Amino acid sequence: MIPSRLRLGVNIDHVATIRNARGGDHPDPVRAAQIVAACGGDGITAHLREDRRHIRDEDLARIQAATNLPLNLEMAATDEMLEIALRHMPHAACIVPERREERTTEGGLDAAGQHNRLYPIVQKLADAGIRVSLFIAPEVRQLDAAIRLGAHVVEFHTGEYAHAAGEDRAVELKRIADMAALAARNGIEPHAGHGLTYDNVQAIAAIPQLAELNIGHYLIGEAVFVGLENAVVQMRELMDAAR
Ligand code: PXP
Repeated sequence: MIPSRLRLGVNIDHVATIRNARGGDHPDPVRAAQIVAACGGDGITAHLREDRRHIRDEDLARIQAATNLPLNLEMAATDEMLEIALRHMPHAACIVPERREERTTEGGLDAAGQHNRLYPIVQKLADAGIRVSLFIAPEVRQLDAAIRLGAHVVEFHTGEYAHAAGEDRAVELKRIADMAALAARNGIEPHAGHGLTYDNVQAIAAIPQLAELNIGHYLIGEAVFVGLENAVVQMRELMDAAR
């Protein structure tokens, strides 16, 4: 099925990064979530990292209480995060790889190599009624693994695309487009995200099978200059124009 409207999930982690820089409670990611809800964002994405470097445990319930937007909880495949997800019951849980020393989620999840570890976690989330997404590289091997694991959604890591230039970027774009089509043919909803900006979003947004983009760092950075509402509205307009 080809979704008519491409949803925009706004990742508000870096509002919490700025808050945590001073250890207080300003700026509050909850306020960011409310602004996103008011200006046409379709969802809130937040990554509770093992080291709690940005979003904290108590933020999750506050974000859920503050808006009606679906919460997409990004989480590592650990027992601790599974327990937190089951307690908070987000709309969706996106399983991401996590390494303490990385600055951000630098690559996709090795769904193919970690089937046995991921399987019980995917099952427990799905049994609880949480939509399960796997953040994977746009590769057949990883998509096959996601299908075998019974994921509802795959989110393709667009970092390689975002960092590539010229011919290489066209190659990366085709990889994502081909994998989005293959996911849709297999009944998995394809999403995409990471490193998307005003400059590179449109070619991704034009991929017809994609149902959702999750965008964070660039929007929060732009918000410093133009405000979060303007940044989200501009991203939304670019996405809609590409569709
Ligand atoms: N999707 C997932 C699964 C992520 O982990 C992240 C953040 O790393 C994003 C989307 C958003 O990426 P960015 O902050 O680069 O827009």
